[in-house]
Amino acid sequence: MDLKMFLVFTAFLLHTSLGLPIQEKCENSTTTTEPTEVTTQEDIYESPLPTETDVEEEVIFNKILKVNQDSSQYLQEGDIVPRRSRSAINCRHCNWPQSRDGIVRVPYVLDPTYEESHVKGIHDAMAEFEALTCINFVKRKTERDYLSIKSVDGCWSNYGRVGGGQTVSVMKGGCLWKGVIQHELEHALGFLHEHSRSDRDKHVKIMWEYISPPDRSDFKKFENSNNLGLPYDYSSIMHYGPYTFTNTTGKATIVPIPDGSVHIGQRQGLSNLDVAKINKLYNCSRCSTILDGTSGSLKSANYPRNYSDNTNCVWLIRTRSRKVSLYFQAFELQKTRGCQGDYVKIYDGSSKSSAVLMDKTCGSKIPNYIVASSNLMLVEFITDGAYTASGFQAIFAAVGNQRRSSIHN
Ligand SMILES: *[C@@H]1O[C@H](CO)[C@@H](O)[C@H](O)[C@H]1NC(C)=O
Ligand SMILES: *[C@@H]1O[C@H](CO)[C@@H](O)[C@H](O)[C@H]1NC(C)=O
Ligand SMILES: *[C@@H]1O[C@H](CO)[C@@H](O)[C@H](O)[C@H]1NC(C)=O
Ligand SMILES: *[C@@H]1O[C@H](CO)[C@@H](O)[C@H](O)[C@H]1NC(C)=O
Ligand SMILES: [Zn+2]
Repeated sequence: MDLKMFLVFTAFLLHTSLGLPIQEKCENSTTTTEPTEVTTQEDIYESPLPTETDVEEEVIFNKILKVNQDSSQYLQEGDIVPRRSRSAINCRHCNWPQSRDGIVRVPYVLDPTYEESHVKGIHDAMAEFEALTCINFVKRKTERDYLSIKSVDGCWSNYGRVGGGQTVSVMKGGCLWKGVIQHELEHALGFLHEHSRSDRDKHVKIMWEYISPPDRSDFKKFENSNNLGLPYDYSSIMHYGPYTFTNTTGKATIVPIPDGSVHIGQRQGLSNLDVAKINKLYNCSRCSTILDGTSGSLKSANYPRNYSDNTNCVWLIRTRSRKVSLYFQAFELQKTRGCQGDYVKIYDGSSKSSAVLMDKTCGSKIPNYIVASSNLMLVEFITDGAYTASGFQAIFAAVGNQRRSSIHN
């Protein structure tokens, strides 16, 4: 190991996390530290006056609701366009079709009035689905059913595929946040709000005493929801925040049970369970992991025992702010010419169309310390059908200056 490199990295970690322990020993392939409650002195020092940086820390659904208060569109549960047939709650026939190659291509057209930065923001939001699931959003050619993404009147969508061109409203000036776009796209893929699951009463208590009568229907429970055999997810991008629709300041409308202190709502983007649910609903076999947090670690499956043949895994590292840095502690992959066999490849962003930070790397030389240009980094690990080795282990941390990851409205 390069001692100088190690010292530099250690210094970075001390600087950024101020003694926060890095979890180096982990049995599982991934561990992260708790993302939201870490307030370092640097955060306080850098924290600007209450501005958009604070807004960014808001539960995604609340951003949606704030915009939709002024919408004239009739919406259910805050952001869902009602269906003509009211019984389609299970969305049995409203999934998007899967191609023979296993990819689910969802055609879309974009409002020509979007500016370049808006288009980039929408593409970034879509690219995460593509990196983590088998959903690909593709420009519409002649497909009959497609999404028409427009700046209409708020942030809203239909639930599932409805047939023909269906509008997803992503309004300029309020909706062009990655998490908001992803929330609306998830509705279009056939997902309801997490707390409207049939089993929600086992996981949350709805505080009806703080919900005014006209808002009560926004907390409707769907007895026939398709829960996909996957757990209830407090941190789903599809979950309301604790205070959503409250009529009494400081009084929550949704309280987790039995432990009321569990965090609910999502501030960053898709959760691991959101990804698992998409992959389950659409029969995708994907190996993908999101790593949220100020720091954490990742390793190839089975490490330090040998990894398997024919795998294709990605890790999306998403620190809350600043830049992602990655430091390999161990690296042992099949060595082939041009790394055409097994390899690790790293992207400067959240998708495989992002710039490449580290091209295909194999063999047993520990790669250099890597810093992304933002709070997002994608690590790809591909193995072929022959020869395996022990794989790799790496730690990541947020370093450098605060950087906003939002799209400018
Ligand atoms: C590994 O993950 C599993 C399932 O998420 C969990 O039950 C187990 O306790 C974890 N083990 C460690 C050592 O973290
Ligand atoms: C809040 O909602 C409850 C239950 O619907 C209602 O009884 C109460 O009057 C409402 N409070 C306010 C301030 O609107
Ligand atoms: C996934 O597979 C199940 C069972 O094979 C099938 O019923 C379902 O329609 C498939 N879903 C999609 C989206 O293709
Ligand atoms: C495991 O990996 C080592 C190299 O790290 C290799 O020499 C060995 O053949 C591998 N074992 C198997 C069963 O593939
Ligand atoms: Zn919604």
